[in-house]
Amino acid sequence: MLSEKSRPVIEATLPLVGSRIGEITADFYKRLFAAHPELLDGLFSRSNQRSGEQQQALAGSIAAFATHLINNPGTLPEAVLSRIAHKHASLGIREEQYGVVYEHLFAAIAADLADVISPEIAEAWTEVYWLMADALIKIEKGLYAAQANNRMWMPWRVAATTPAGTDALTFILEPADETPVTPAFAGQYISVKVQLPDGLHQVRQYSLSADAGTSRTFTTKLNDGGEVSTALHNGVEAGDILQISNPYGEITLKEGDGPLVLASAGIGCTPIASILRSLADTATGRQILVLHAENSMESWALRDQMTADVERIDDAELQLWLEAPQPGTKEGFMSLREVDLPADASLYLCGPLPFMKKIRDEAIDAGIPATRIHYEVFGPDVWLAN
Ligand SMILES: Cc1cc2nc3c(=O)[nH]c(=O)nc-3n(C[C@H](O)[C@H](O)[C@H](O)COP(=O)(O)OP(=O)(O)OC[C@H]3O[C@@H](n4cnc5c(N)ncnc54)[C@H](O)[C@@H]3O)c2cc1C
Ligand code: HEM
Repeated sequence: MLSEKSRPVIEATLPLVGSRIGEITADFYKRLFAAHPELLDGLFSRSNQRSGEQQQALAGSIAAFATHLINNPGTLPEAVLSRIAHKHASLGIREEQYGVVYEHLFAAIAADLADVISPEIAEAWTEVYWLMADALIKIEKGLYAAQANNRMWMPWRVAATTPAGTDALTFILEPADETPVTPAFAGQYISVKVQLPDGLHQVRQYSLSADAGTSRTFTTKLNDGGEVSTALHNGVEAGDILQISNPYGEITLKEGDGPLVLASAGIGCTPIASILRSLADTATGRQILVLHAENSMESWALRDQMTADVERIDDAELQLWLEAPQPGTKEGFMSLREVDLPADASLYLCGPLPFMKKIRDEAIDAGIPATRIHYEVFGPDVWLAN
């Protein structure tokens, strides 16, 4: 909990720090990578640094955390922390690295706010940082302890690659050594580390797209100019070894027997397809409404799998939106206003941010509480502050 001494200081300086946090985090990353260039080799995404998305996600999370401490003293923003901790754990972030981040973040804060910063302000923001860091460290320790092994990277052999719609490929993996395999929940992701032609290692996350448990199957869309998807699509074939992490991610099916709406767009169908597969495998009695939006039938990466799994579930229905519609499909962008939503439904969402924002807003308008809306973001969550 934030101390009574720091609370008014944070309240008074939050607007100023909030207005400068974008510049502060950009300077922080410059300082961090100048002192530790090794962090760009196999840890931070070079592309997210170039695009500024990681700076935005870090800034958003700090502002959201400080705002939460002011508005809800005594509680922590569990959802924000959990999402970051799962991402961190999928990258193997260690407790001692929090001191390194603190050093460079506070050097950036001190430089940016040099005219106004006092020891009192620095102390209050240091308290906020460590409240957040300690909460993350605690969740990350729990996540590491729950794994079947204590390794960060494990070799898995590509058993097969199969085309999955326009510009997408499914990679089916099998263990390449004796490391115990952590069972994955449907909806979770793994990190995949590849070496690029210039020698640098880069890591990206890929959702499991079919069976979870001890299987590892993921489906990637080729991202034009993207570093890792290009390396996977052009440089990896059956028999090759990939370095992958244990499974992480908190967008997993919550227990219950209420109706489910599973909504996705484009390659965002991957975690949804894995959740759908688990429902089909367990012969669920739940009412399932699967909503998917695509450019065209051909570009739908997991079309055969998802349609077959919908068929296997007694009370499941599929509705499809295509930009160029065909008989039996809807036209244009998905809208929940065109759908008869089951009462008391929970919603699982994955797709581009504008898609998720629209569907989430429509779901809230339709009476689905925010606590029953779960979404996965395929990149740094620049939404965290919302
Ligand atoms: C939890 C999680 C699960 C994921 N699951 C999957 C999955 O199942 N399948 C899958 O294919 N991908 C998935 N991703 C995305 C994946 O991790 C990579 O981000 C993606 O493959 C692109 O990586 P890359 O190295 O090819 O591109 P990068 O070299 O990272 O380049 C991508 C660049 O393009 C920019 N960019 C990305 N999208 C757009 C856009 N629409 N418009 C403009 N610029 C854009 C980004 O800012 C970034 O700088 C997931 C991501 C996360 C975080
Ligand atoms: C209190 C301290 C920290 C905060 C608030 C924080 C916050 C965040 C946030 C918000 C994200 C984006 C999550 C998402 O994908 O949505 C992230 C990702 C990440 N964090 Fe942290 N973090 C902290 C400490 C650290 C530390 C100590 C390290 C280790 C050096 C680290 C390394 C990373 C990396 C590598 C990513 C993924 C970046 C990418 O792929 O571009 N973080 N963090």
